[in-house]
Amino acid sequence: MTTEQPGLFDIPEKKAEKPPEARKIIKSRPQIPFLPGVKYYESFPEIIDIEMLRQKASGCNGCGLRENCQQVVFGSGNTRSGIMFIGEGPGRDEDIQGIPFVGRAGQLLDKILAAADFDRQEVYIANVVKCRPPENRLPRTEEVQRCRNYLEAQIRIIQPKIIICLGSLATKTVIDPKAKITEVRGKWFNRQDIMIMGTFHPAALLRNEHYKRPVWEDFKLIRQAFASLDIK
Ligand code: URA
Repeated sequence: MTTEQPGLFDIPEKKAEKPPEARKIIKSRPQIPFLPGVKYYESFPEIIDIEMLRQKASGCNGCGLRENCQQVVFGSGNTRSGIMFIGEGPGRDEDIQGIPFVGRAGQLLDKILAAADFDRQEVYIANVVKCRPPENRLPRTEEVQRCRNYLEAQIRIIQPKIIICLGSLATKTVIDPKAKITEVRGKWFNRQDIMIMGTFHPAALLRNEHYKRPVWEDFKLIRQAFASLDIK
């Protein structure tokens, strides 16, 4: 039997509809997905290797975003890292280079990481959606619902001890669909032994410098937690 992961604000729902082809896997290996709303059998349970997952994602046309972008921006950094940062989706620069967070927001993220004594190469960085939405619009619900299966599999394979949600979409996708970034940021949540925190997106800092102080406070907590877990 598979059980859907509830949001952190919710009581578990009792429903487990599953297609016949998934029944065998589920029967032999009961699994509760990490992300709220994800179904185990849709999150590529047969893939156990990050490179295989990258290849699977690179051939994906599940939501239509792939038709208007240059490439799939899967993720970057240390796949054995104890900490994973999750943003929203690739922008123009990320779409050109195939690497998350390399544009203006990414350069600011690099500075924040360095100030908190993280080397970009030692952490893992990914996005909720892997293809650039046209004109950098917000990814739509159906796009998120499709693409979060890849994020689920990334988390399952990388097994970070800490997940940091950058901005509202990542916070809603990882913590709870009803989570408001202004209310939950800077607070630790725990699910399946993974510490989770939401903080403002670096792009929000570029628009409003009042977010700088809270983000810095959040990153001090993140650095402390990382150090106390004694992880790499
Ligand atoms: N914003 C994001 O959320 N992700 C990126 O990769 C770049 C900008």
